[in-house]
Amino acid sequence: MKKTFVISTLILTAAMNMAAAEITSPSGDLKLVVDVDAQGVPVYSVDYKGKTLVAPGRLGLVSDETKFTDGFRIVDTDTVTVDRTWQPVWGEYSDVRDHFRELAVKLKADNPDREMTLRFRVFDDGLGFRYELPLQNGPNYLTLKDELTEFNYTDNHTLFAIPGDYDTDEYLWSETTFTELPEALNNYTRHTEAQRTGGTTIQTPMLIKTTDGVYVNAHEAALDGYPAMLLDVDTANYAMKSHLVPDRLGVSAYLQLPFNTPWRTLIVSDDARDILASQLIYNLNEPSKIEDTSWIKPMKFVGVWWEMFTGNEKTWAYSDDHSAKPGVTDYTKLTPNGRHPANTENVKKYIDFAAKHGIDGVLVEGWNEGWEDWAGYRKNRQFLFDKPYPDFDLPALRDYAKEKGVKLIMHHETAANAADYELQLDRAFQFMKDNNYDAVKTGYVGAIIPRSEHHTSQWMVDHAKHVIERAAEYQIMVDSHEAPRPTGLARTYPNWLAQESARGGEFESMGGNPPSHTTILPFTRLKGGPMDYTPGLFETRMSYYNEGKDSQAGTTLARQLALYLTMPSPMQMVCDLPENYERFPDAFQFIKDVPVDWSDSKYLEAEPNRYITVARRDKNSDDWYVGAITDDKARVATIDLSFLPKGEKYVATIYEDAPDADWKENPQAYRIRTVDVKPGQKLKQRLAPGGGAAIRITKKAHKK
Ligand code: NOJ
Ligand code: CA
Repeated sequence: MKKTFVISTLILTAAMNMAAAEITSPSGDLKLVVDVDAQGVPVYSVDYKGKTLVAPGRLGLVSDETKFTDGFRIVDTDTVTVDRTWQPVWGEYSDVRDHFRELAVKLKADNPDREMTLRFRVFDDGLGFRYELPLQNGPNYLTLKDELTEFNYTDNHTLFAIPGDYDTDEYLWSETTFTELPEALNNYTRHTEAQRTGGTTIQTPMLIKTTDGVYVNAHEAALDGYPAMLLDVDTANYAMKSHLVPDRLGVSAYLQLPFNTPWRTLIVSDDARDILASQLIYNLNEPSKIEDTSWIKPMKFVGVWWEMFTGNEKTWAYSDDHSAKPGVTDYTKLTPNGRHPANTENVKKYIDFAAKHGIDGVLVEGWNEGWEDWAGYRKNRQFLFDKPYPDFDLPALRDYAKEKGVKLIMHHETAANAADYELQLDRAFQFMKDNNYDAVKTGYVGAIIPRSEHHTSQWMVDHAKHVIERAAEYQIMVDSHEAPRPTGLARTYPNWLAQESARGGEFESMGGNPPSHTTILPFTRLKGGPMDYTPGLFETRMSYYNEGKDSQAGTTLARQLALYLTMPSPMQMVCDLPENYERFPDAFQFIKDVPVDWSDSKYLEAEPNRYITVARRDKNSDDWYVGAITDDKARVATIDLSFLPKGEKYVATIYEDAPDADWKENPQAYRIRTVDVKPGQKLKQRLAPGGGAAIRITKKAHKK
């Protein structure tokens, strides 16, 4: 009796089992196959142009309460083609096409009863997929321990990667292979207070160049209510598996169903330029939740900032008394250390400079109580976000900035005390509004408080969203540092203008960033969203300030101009000291002119870790701008001006490396020349070792 029952169940199951599901991208170049294996484990594979790109790999989720790993059968599949266009509030394009074929695979398992849908979207430039867990006939609260997503590659491809770390992405990039990865990761030193994963775990976004010359950016989209994903690499089998950032209790996520995970994304092309141009990650995010976006304004800003990095012993702190305690100590009684640039007189100079040169904002770091308990003394870590230091006359500066037509930009360094920041958030944002601030740079330097958490664990992903949503309610724009790396959420929250979440320009004062660094970031980190990289460094040697400092930036001066094109961001810093711009006023003109918001972008040349040439059209005029950068080797960029509309005459102002320029030996040698150019012309542009070129192209006025 029992036997018969089992057999009939099996027959029934077999009868209900559907065949493998398959879809292709609109162009047909990408083919995706989804199936369940003999154990009922969901598997997927991806072909690109007729060749296996990702061999069959498992999909699944593991929680304490239940597992979504095996015993599944496909009970339904659904496909749909979508082709629509949307308009971002800011960005590289004024119109973004969202064109994909979608496959939803509904899975069911018995004993215990479980349901899961795998949703795939295949675009011409890659694919994304996510797990959707509907309400179950079983546990609906999950303590998630693991995600089994596999990415099985087929050969010993080149990898562009940084070490797996739960707390920081501020690393230089390795160009390596699967088999050489362990050695490459051995070369990294651990960041203070950050938790490296060890082993052969790496972070996303990362880039692969296959042995066939196909480029793959692996990342995620719409990270919300879930931890960030790292990748465990099986170097012998050329395989990767998702590694969710856990909290310090070992739990990756606490979920209440129904729940959809973030999208796992692969941007794919055999043309490196397509990786840079791809908007796939934004396409997989939800449209803006902010209805009236008129208050969101892209901007350039200078800052009381670099002074604290130059090695001149300037400090964010007002005094050297490390026993000072915000809210308790009477700061007017402290002895000022005399090395505090966030003082009224100095800030006025920055406001004057910004006003004179048409720079929108002035960031001031070190304006508020709390810095005495910062770096090196950071056990309790608290800042007050409505308590200016005695030498920072906020009402006077507020009025002065207003009179000069300049916006002060707020700084909230939390020293990673995110818990305390949440308590102060409303007061802090109201204080900003009361004082005419509408943008804030946040920071999370140090180990996270609550101490159970990491920078990229679920709690901090939730925190980041909380901050961005509260900021939107106050109509505040945000530039976050040391936050979970972006996954395109700026589409949904366009007040999230920029993030750091990578090794930025600040490291030019701490060992330096080699020229190649900014030729790999656009292929990796930038796919999630703009970076506050802080370009515009004109004085590249720290020995200029202090003989004892030997840090040197991996750049020529001309290359710093090009970064405004190759590292696009709607919140772009003009990072150097005003006095350094005054030394090179003709080169500074480019920074004054360059827009931060674009209606179109054309990637003309690109190879990861080597070079990038890009042309962009200003969103607010017909002007085009071109930026070209190279690694530490000299290069001749070919700038094909086919993007210029025909029937007009144009003039190009070229800011270039002088013939004898070299990032190491002669970084400040540049030339500026003006030439007539025609649509379709191919400009040959020489770039020095570690150099670059920046070009402004305007229509020639018609002769009357
Ligand atoms: C690190 C940030 O990246 C940097 O820009 C900032 O100046 C310091 N933290 C201090 O908040
Ligand atoms: Ca940082």
